Amino acid sequence: MPFRKIATFIVFISFLFNCKETDISRSEVFIIPKPLKLIINKGHFIINQTTGINYSEEFKVSAEFLKAFIEDGSNIKLKKNNTITFAKDQNISNPEGYTINILPNRININAKTDQGAFYAVQTLRQLLPPEFENGSYTSHTVLLPCITIQDEPQFEYRGMHLDVGRHMFSVAFIKKYIDALAMLKMNTFHWHLTEDQGWRIEIKKYPKLQEIAAFRNETLMGHYSTEPQQFDGKLYGGYYTQEDIKAVVAYAQKRHVTVIPEIELPGHSQAAIAAYPELGCTGEPIEVATKWGVFEDIYCPKEETFKFLEDVLDEVLALFPSEYIHIGGDEAPKTRWKNCEHCQTLIKTKGLKDEHELQSYFISRIETYLNSKGRQIIGWDEILEGGLAPNATVMSWRGTQGAIEAAKQHHKVVMTPTSHCYFDYYQSENENEPLAIGGFLPLEKVYYFNPIPEELTKDEASYILGAQGNIWTEYIPNEKHLEYMAFPRMLAMSEVVWSTPENKNYEDFINSLERFHKRLEILDINYANHLYNIEGQLTSEGYELKTLIKEKFIRFTLDGTLPNLESELYSKPIPITKNTTINAAVFNSEKKLGTTFSQTVNYHKAFGKSITINTLPHKAYSGSGAQGLINGISGSDTRYGDKEWLGFSGEDIEITIDLGQETEIGSVYTRCYAANGQWIYLPKGAQIDLIDNEGKSIFDRYIELLTEGLDSKFTSKIGMEFDGINARYIKLKFQNYGNIPESNQGAGNKAWTFIDEIIVN
Ligand code: ACM
Ligand code: ZN
Repeated sequence: MPFRKIATFIVFISFLFNCKETDISRSEVFIIPKPLKLIINKGHFIINQTTGINYSEEFKVSAEFLKAFIEDGSNIKLKKNNTITFAKDQNISNPEGYTINILPNRININAKTDQGAFYAVQTLRQLLPPEFENGSYTSHTVLLPCITIQDEPQFEYRGMHLDVGRHMFSVAFIKKYIDALAMLKMNTFHWHLTEDQGWRIEIKKYPKLQEIAAFRNETLMGHYSTEPQQFDGKLYGGYYTQEDIKAVVAYAQKRHVTVIPEIELPGHSQAAIAAYPELGCTGEPIEVATKWGVFEDIYCPKEETFKFLEDVLDEVLALFPSEYIHIGGDEAPKTRWKNCEHCQTLIKTKGLKDEHELQSYFISRIETYLNSKGRQIIGWDEILEGGLAPNATVMSWRGTQGAIEAAKQHHKVVMTPTSHCYFDYYQSENENEPLAIGGFLPLEKVYYFNPIPEELTKDEASYILGAQGNIWTEYIPNEKHLEYMAFPRMLAMSEVVWSTPENKNYEDFINSLERFHKRLEILDINYANHLYNIEGQLTSEGYELKTLIKEKFIRFTLDGTLPNLESELYSKPIPITKNTTINAAVFNSEKKLGTTFSQTVNYHKAFGKSITINTLPHKAYSGSGAQGLINGISGSDTRYGDKEWLGFSGEDIEITIDLGQETEIGSVYTRCYAANGQWIYLPKGAQIDLIDNEGKSIFDRYIELLTEGLDSKFTSKIGMEFDGINARYIKLKFQNYGNIPESNQGAGNKAWTFIDEIIVN
């Protein structure tokens, strides 16, 4: 037999052998975000010293990324032949779409653009062992399953934001963050560069931005609401030089990530005004802010301010080639403008109605300037107030109302509602989570976010460009902490913006995520791990426990002890007939994983009875619905976004509980949440009625907030005691606080009311 034939024969035998040994089933391929279509075929492709890569100039960025990933990640050096080929395919309609076909003897990557091919490469990257991520893969061969993938994103804007004003992060870290974005097929990095607490971009024409605005004298310690406020007494600050920024932008370009800079105006500008007091209304010297919040010193719309901003923007435009420039626009109190002669005269001469129209004038002028340079503006949803600038794109953060209004006016929108996109919120109810601003945004809630508001028609929905996770860093002082807040929620967001709703499945996602942990570890990313948490809920059959992680079990106790490998295996809901404390944890066959879940169910007189509310809770804070108010489980003392609190935006609330028969009532208590910084206020008033079998009121009283009975700094007990009144129905009315007063966060918006378990004894 000639040599060639022998060689072919050996390859053929080994192919047959390998098909049998290494065929991979669909359930073993884990790619985040989940591709549109994926078919596992028989066999595999071997990357080894004979593998080559072939691409035209058009696919340079993506092909070179793959080559470097393989060569830096292992001992394999790729040849210049064509076993991995990149080819242009005009039939792929989405410019970011791609197909990959891994055959036993070759890999074909097809795309219309280099960006599409780049996403194919990110998919291949996830098919390769995680050790490639840091060069620790030592073998000279690696197997890839034979797969056909056809993939494209659902949304064209797929972003992550980062606030570097409150805390600053190294250039190396910014690159690492961009890397993670690219790995997850995200294409936009929104870099929030200027804040009240620090100006972080070098502007050569204005040296005091570097000397003064970039530094604050000290920083608030602990949570804003902790009294008395204390400060660390240490100078904090710094800025990115223009060279740093060029390096970041170039790095991002190599990963098909667009960097959108944010230069905040007219608000969140205290640091700039500290450097140049003439930019403010009063001209008085002020300091760079040392604590968090919303500040009244904002830019005064005078000609010298516009000159300053245009000069700043000129330098910004030279650094950032992005189509969009983010101009902020949020949280600009109008106090200074109301008391400023120049501002008031300007309102009159321009024929404006009020300070909101003055803000609109301000933004429109900046828009005109940027449009004249070929750029577009994007701003937070407050830019709707007083009228949208003609070509502005809106970033909807205060819920989805801004998105709805903007899309109906045929303006483009990026979705970042606090309820689903604020990764500075707590992600777990675990009491030992690191200090966060507040809120509660667990992984699953991010995952199920649908960026298209239901209120929009199909045509209006086409204005929704996509969504973005936001990371504000008041409470995030360092990089490891930032990673903890960003991961894995960024992975969930990647699927929100890439994968179609029909294709998404949370259980698949978290099982992929469990596999992804290794990659994150090798990438030295300090992700949060709440995968082995247990979800509990009361159902008509009893208390149900759930873990979505496959091949793991739940064990539990009811006697207050901690569960161990001998504890009862959970198989069906636990009946509740008295006060019960359930301790449970997830186990594999060898050990306990994660932390212990503990839930006390308080078996009171309204437990599991019938309840109605005159209005639905807001859909972002609908907890466990009305029934959740009498399910025996109280909400968290610190996380109003959990399953037990119900949140209502601006409405008066009337709750009726039917006990089924006349019952002796000794007390009725609930709790309301107060977190004014997050727009949550105690109700103005509350009223209770007790009603008999015939529907006749037998008791009614205005009830007081029991401020002495304050359970924690965030909750207030509301209710009263009776000398045993027999009643069938309990009616509770809560009067919403009304509009948020001036100079508070969210001033002018409707206050929220949050209500907890109603305990009847
Ligand atoms: C924002 O969170 N102030 C946009
Ligand atoms: Zn002014």
